[in-house]
Amino acid sequence: MKRSLTGLQPTNFLHIGNYIGAVQPAVALQSDTQLMMMIVDYHAITMPQDPKELRKNILSAAATYLGCGIDPAKTILFQQSRVAEHMELAWILQCVAKMGEAERMTQFKDKSAKGESPTVGLFTYPILMAADILLYDTEIVPVGEDQKQHVELARDLAIRFNRDFGETFVVPEPKIRAEGARIMALDDGTKKMSKSAPSAKSYIALTDDADAIRKKIMSAVTDSGTEIRTDRNRPAITNLLTVFSVATGRSIESIELAYVGKGYGDFKKDLAEAVVEYLGPIRGRILNFAADETEIKRILAEGAEKAKGMAAFKMNKVRQRVGVTL
Ligand code: TYM
Repeated sequence: MKRSLTGLQPTNFLHIGNYIGAVQPAVALQSDTQLMMMIVDYHAITMPQDPKELRKNILSAAATYLGCGIDPAKTILFQQSRVAEHMELAWILQCVAKMGEAERMTQFKDKSAKGESPTVGLFTYPILMAADILLYDTEIVPVGEDQKQHVELARDLAIRFNRDFGETFVVPEPKIRAEGARIMALDDGTKKMSKSAPSAKSYIALTDDADAIRKKIMSAVTDSGTEIRTDRNRPAITNLLTVFSVATGRSIESIELAYVGKGYGDFKKDLAEAVVEYLGPIRGRILNFAADETEIKRILAEGAEKAKGMAAFKMNKVRQRVGVTL
C-alpha cells in the first residue's frame, strides 16, 4: 500500500478551507493508502502560543480530525512532538538545505515583510516539515496550494540526500485538488482564508453553528457586477462558486447555469443552506469526540507508538548513512 501523510497545526478550530484543501482529501486517501495524520504542535510554536491554550488545541485538533472522518483503525493519528525523531531528522536536513532555498520560502518572507520579528524556528519550519514527510517514506502529501512550495523543498532535500549519502528517502509528491486548494476569505476574495485573520467573518469554522454560517455567507463580499459566474477578475464570486461546488458535488458550470438571471441574494441563501448541510454532521461528530478526552488521549498514544516504531527504524538507517553510527 502506498503511504500518504499530512499535518495541520493545532488551533482551536479548523476552517472550511483547511477542510476542503487538506482534511477531506486526506480522509479520501484512507481507503487506498496508509495515511499518517499529524497534529504538528512543534510547527505551532514557531508563533507565540499560550501553553494552556496549546494543550486544549491539540485535543480539539484530534477531535476535529476524528469528526471529519479520520478512522484510527486505518490511519495513524498522532502528535508530532511525541516522536522525537522528527526533530533529529530536521537537524540533519538543516545541514543539507541551503540558506538560499530556505530564504525563498514565501511564508517566511510574508511574515518578515509584515514587520513581525520572526523566530529562527519560523525560518527553518519548512525543513521540519520535510523531516515529517521523509521520515515515513511518504509518497503522497495531500495539502492546500499554500503548502506546495514546502513539499517541493522536501522533494529537493530527499533527492540531494540520496545523491550524497546513497538511496535513503522516497521522493514525495504533493496532491493538490484542482478546485478548492485555495479557499479565499469571505470578506476579501484576494486573500486566503486563514485562522489568524482578525475578523471571524472572514472564515467559516467547522464548529460554527447553522446560524453563524448563514450570517457569514450572507455578509460575504461579492464583486462588482451581477452575474454569477467564475472570472479571474472576480475572485469573490469565483470563490463562493467553488465552495458551492465542493459542498454539493455539483459542477461549477451547472451551478452557473442554474443562477442565470438570478441575483446574489438567492445564490447566497442557497449556498448558505448547502454549507449548513455539508458541515452540520461534521460539527456534530466533532462535538461528540471533543466530549471524550480520555478516548482522544488513548487514540493519540496508540498513534504515537506506531509512528515511533516506524520513525526509529528509518532514523537508524539515516544515522548510518550520515556516518555517526559506530
Ligand atoms: P496549516 O496548519 O497552515 O494548514 C493545514 C492545511 O490546510 C490547508 N489550507 C488551505 N487549503 C485551502 N484553502 C485555504 N484557505 C487553506 N488554508 C490552509 C493547508 O495548505 C494545509 O494543507 N506546514 C503545514 C503543516 C505541516 C504539514 C507537514 C503538512 C507540517 N508538516 C507535513 C503536510 C505534510 C501547515 O502549517 O499547515
